Amino acid sequence: MTGGTGRRGFLPPQEFAEIDSTNEEAKRQAAAGAPEGTLIWGRMQVQGRGRRGRPWISPPGNLYLSLLLRPERSPATAAQLGFAAALAIGEAVLPLLPPTVPLAYKWPNDVLVGGRKVSGILLESQAAGEGRLDWLVVGIGVNLVSFPEGTEYPATSLAAAGADRVPVETALEAVAGRFHHWYQCWREQGFAPLRAAWLGRARGLGEGIRVRLPGEETSGRFVGLDGDGALLLEQGAHRRRIAAGDVFPAGG
Ligand code: BTN
Repeated sequence: MTGGTGRRGFLPPQEFAEIDSTNEEAKRQAAAGAPEGTLIWGRMQVQGRGRRGRPWISPPGNLYLSLLLRPERSPATAAQLGFAAALAIGEAVLPLLPPTVPLAYKWPNDVLVGGRKVSGILLESQAAGEGRLDWLVVGIGVNLVSFPEGTEYPATSLAAAGADRVPVETALEAVAGRFHHWYQCWREQGFAPLRAAWLGRARGLGEGIRVRLPGEETSGRFVGLDGDGALLLEQGAHRRRIAAGDVFPAGG
């Protein structure tokens, strides 16, 4: 990381009392030439976005941030940073939780607290040609005090899980700090250490799962991640590699 970075290892956060979407702002700034490490923080979002075009309801009190990165890697390789973001959230949140409440990672990028989704990660990128990225935006939302009802995968908040209350600023500092750690680790050592840490708390490893793919639903036994971060699904004698999809418990 170049000079001028703050304690989190990134640039000091640009705070917005209200914003459309921190990812949109990071993308606007990326297009205008903003540097690696630009950090956008919104106290609330009015057009927060989730994966697959879903809205991300973003009232005040929760954490909404986006990081602008310019890793000199292919888009597929840079997508591994979704695992860095999940690990960062997990490590920021774990010390706040009562010891009886489990924390687990659900492929590809969800963090589950007590079996419910507590956060979301949205990666967006622009290619620069020759298989390289121009920029990558890592958007992170963490339900600190509230969560939406009626979501397809049940949600929760840290408050509902009985976690110690912390100011949003403290959560921002912790998540950005842990992300910086994993980002550096990935740049220096590749995906292997992230893969090992993620698998150490993976939800449902060795168990039956359902996977929703574009235009198809399939099921099998979740047996691990390949060296790139794709999910490995055992289906009878075959192993299927899945690069993108939504995972649910079998029969759930
Ligand atoms: C998901 O669907 O699980 C991903 C949700 C990502 C939400 C975060 S909040 C900060 C950033 N800005 C957005 O509009 N989305 C991401």
